Amino acid sequence: MKILRAWIESSNTLCLDLRTKLDFKQRHLKSSTNIPLSQLVLRQSELPPKRLPFAVIEPINEKGCSSWLVEHGWQVPWVVWEGNLQWKEIEANQWTGNDDQHVLFQPSPFLSSNIELLEQGLKERDQWTFLDVGCGSGRDVGWLLARNKKWRASAFDYLAGAMVRTDILVRNLHVAQQLDILAQVKLMNNGQWQLISNAWWNEQHNQDTKELQDSQDEITRRLAMVELENSNKKELYTFKELYHHLLPKTEYDTFDLILNIRFLSRPFLLEVPELLNVGGYFIISHFVDDERYDYKQPKKSLRLQVNEISELYGKMSQMEVIQDVIEEIEDGRPVNSIIVRRKF
Ligand SMILES: C[S@@+](CC[C@H](N)C(=O)[O-])C[C@H]1O[C@@H](n2cnc3c(N)ncnc32)[C@H](O)[C@@H]1O
Repeated sequence: MKILRAWIESSNTLCLDLRTKLDFKQRHLKSSTNIPLSQLVLRQSELPPKRLPFAVIEPINEKGCSSWLVEHGWQVPWVVWEGNLQWKEIEANQWTGNDDQHVLFQPSPFLSSNIELLEQGLKERDQWTFLDVGCGSGRDVGWLLARNKKWRASAFDYLAGAMVRTDILVRNLHVAQQLDILAQVKLMNNGQWQLISNAWWNEQHNQDTKELQDSQDEITRRLAMVELENSNKKELYTFKELYHHLLPKTEYDTFDLILNIRFLSRPFLLEVPELLNVGGYFIISHFVDDERYDYKQPKKSLRLQVNEISELYGKMSQMEVIQDVIEEIEDGRPVNSIIVRRKF
């Protein structure tokens, strides 16, 4: 309890609870986040950035399990074993909580620092449509959908692992109903979209948005489904063909916000204006080939050139560049982060 008290008395509010979902539901500490130990490796993208320390609750039968976190570079100065939790004292001190949407991860800093500006610009609309291409583990999707019920999202990536993680994340945040499409696709160099699998998200998803259970069974089942589909399907589409194929009854196929975070497809950049609603925003934040920085990955051909985006959209009369900065990410590499708005 000394360690728990030390965490509570610090200003830190991040706590990872590794117990089962059932144990967590019964009672848990305020502002804590449950990732059952059996899902930890798969869901490590939901952990805080490695520079931010956090507390950990280890399950009764898994004393010492937080060593995995330390070995992989996370900082966990407050480790509390479930056997040492004295719930009577915890309840008496009002350290318990009933919020289950607390997240440990952080979205893209450029998105989070500009989101109020964007939502202000879109405030007259009843619904905000969002397209994330190269969504990775779905952190920006989950964060945005949980932020405001007005957001509806479509998310694409070519890795099965990205699909699994995004799927789990939106279920656990109880925002799966706001995710219209989650599809495994490859954006080709000629601008076509290759559908690999949409087993993740189909018309039935509205009836099947429950949280992932503790076991790996559901994950294994879903991966198997994708592998089966992968072997059969290699269909090519334009974006709009793909969108209507995946969501035949959709009432929209243009977006208020399109996001490319550390994802670059030059053919897609040319498609962006026609996929944006008037007044909608495109955000791209990607590695840039800036001569002031010397770094190896990604290789030069996969980086943006300095001013490439502002020059591309500067030539299009319907587009205006409203932010254009070069900033450093955690490891010191430079990214060019840009917001472009469609004026008419
Ligand atoms: C560096 S990650 C960024 C993920 C996410 N946007 C984020 O910021 O956490 C780039 C993502 O783009 C996806 N990706 C790369 N090339 C792709 C392509 N041609 N088509 C679809 N997805 C692609 C990768 O699978 C990966 O998840």
